[in-house]
Amino acid sequence: MALLSVNVDHIATIREARGIDEPDPVLAAGIAELAGAEGIICHLRRDRRHIKDRDLSLLRQTVKTKLNLEMAPVKELLDIALNIKPDVVTLVPERREELTTEGGLDVARSKEEYKGITSRLKEAGISVSFFINPDPDQIRASLDAGADIVEINTREYSEARSESDILRHFEKISEAAQLARKLKLRVHAGHGLNYVNIKRFSSIPEIEEYSIGHSIIARTLIVGIDRAVREMVTLVSQL
Ligand code: PXP
Repeated sequence: MALLSVNVDHIATIREARGIDEPDPVLAAGIAELAGAEGIICHLRRDRRHIKDRDLSLLRQTVKTKLNLEMAPVKELLDIALNIKPDVVTLVPERREELTTEGGLDVARSKEEYKGITSRLKEAGISVSFFINPDPDQIRASLDAGADIVEINTREYSEARSESDILRHFEKISEAAQLARKLKLRVHAGHGLNYVNIKRFSSIPEIEEYSIGHSIIARTLIVGIDRAVREMVTLVSQL
């Protein structure tokens, strides 16, 4: 049985569209936990476009399952992680102009740099996950750099449209997950997973946890609008 961790970034994205204080990702995280999520994920980006330092600090105080902080491997964020002490840090590449995380880390290229960051996080009792593409070289490099977990990037699979491309990308994920498990790394997966494309993953038991954000927040709006409108109709009809 695999576990779900919910990424609450896009609750904050909606808040920031108005620059006010709702909806609150901290409240949403609590409700996600009550609904059975086994972990809460947020990405503190350098430009603070959605999740803010305030959110991270409150999430640390309130999350009862497991708090996973996604962050770029840079000193500013390393210092914040060492201070806040999330349960897990997921290192991700970050480009300022991207809409969302675009690819995996190139651990193989900067192994020593990742080794240094990873050992500081692990000394502080934080588990370390590397977000990588389903590439055997990146998996071996992640092991060498000290990662506890690899999160396999499912973006190419999620964006593939033809059945042959979908199968090709899925096979890569499956092989990567098997190799990572063989090397005794824990395996997570995420990016672009939704209520349809998740079903195929029953054939990859090596993946113990899925990190899902956008599709859950999108569905939240759609399944929630009926109740939200009814409540306002009642209020307005009483005017
Ligand atoms: N994993 C990582 C490393 C991510 O950067 C993201 C996006 O923030 C996700 C998982 C979740 O992706 P999505 O929002 O498409 O479900």
